[in-house]
Amino acid sequence: RDAHSIAVIGGDGIGPEVVAEALKVLDAVSGGDGPSFTTTEYDLGARRWHATGETLPDSVLEELRGHDAILLGAIGDPRVPSGVLERGVLLPLRFALDHFVNLRPVRLFPGVASPLDVARVAPEGIDFVVVREGTEGPYTGNGGALRVGTPAEIATEVSVNTRYGVERVVRDAFARAQARPRRHLTLVHKHNVLTHAGHLWRRTVEEVGAEFPDVETAYQHVDAATIFMVTDPGRFDVIVTDNLFGDIITDIAAAISGGIGLAASGNVNPTRTTPSMFEPVHGSAPDIAGQGKADPTAAILSAAMLLEHLGREQDARRVEDAVAADLAERGDAVRSTSAVGDAVAARL
Ligand code: IPM
Ligand code: MN
Repeated sequence: RDAHSIAVIGGDGIGPEVVAEALKVLDAVSGGDGPSFTTTEYDLGARRWHATGETLPDSVLEELRGHDAILLGAIGDPRVPSGVLERGVLLPLRFALDHFVNLRPVRLFPGVASPLDVARVAPEGIDFVVVREGTEGPYTGNGGALRVGTPAEIATEVSVNTRYGVERVVRDAFARAQARPRRHLTLVHKHNVLTHAGHLWRRTVEEVGAEFPDVETAYQHVDAATIFMVTDPGRFDVIVTDNLFGDIITDIAAAISGGIGLAASGNVNPTRTTPSMFEPVHGSAPDIAGQGKADPTAAILSAAMLLEHLGREQDARRVEDAVAADLAERGDAVRSTSAVGDAVAARL
């Protein structure tokens, strides 16, 4: 049997609800000739912080390292001061496990409504992937504040871009572009203003690109990229960009492809020296938590990415096909969280 140990972090808000449906789907693909999964739940997020003051204890991090992959729901709670859980749980996981490829596929499934006039702006459909750098940029916490609360207050958030970090994510993006039919890679940055980092990214794309002569490259400033994402999203195949630009453009990308209820992501360490972590792009959505209203599709598609990462490509395709069929059938009908999970699982 092909056995995998999965660490499950439901987290905050709707996280545990959507993760439960993703687990239903993993359960449905397991057994018989399929893989088998052992799951271990980890209690991280607002509840733990309120109860113990802990965010990500070292002992938990060490245990997480022992698993083959991590499935995460959402981290974040309005009753916890802003940044405590993000900087205390989610980002330390991404950094400690060296998830330098934050992979965010963007695909408009047939039958799913987009706020765009897709027939006009993307007659060929929307199907691209954003390779967001996951360990550097302004996310590192390299900054500080001086004279806080005075009229002379100064705050800095320094964007960290290392040749090592840029090169490895750029090479990964090129490899992904090469494996796709269109073989096209767009670097999104802002080199007209962020000249230092911009120069590093551009030069790295140029140099690494020499190893991938069959991949065509393009460049777009991030502001222009937001325009094209809504006026001509079909132009994109693979996008590579830094951590913050990637955060922003993947929310737009989610919006044009059916909303964040459908957007999946993987925090991937392609070297496989640590477990990669799969999570829906949406957050904890505290306003609808506990009501069985959240769409678990993004979590289910994240589980499909997890399957693919574990080498179960065929199982991943089966889950995606089941989701696609479910979305096509769903139309405008509003269904409960568990009804969606049941319907997808039933197709497997
Ligand atoms: C995301 C989220 C996180 C990010 C937050 C919660 C720290 O917005 O995964 O896109 O900015 O990366
Ligand atoms: Mn985000």
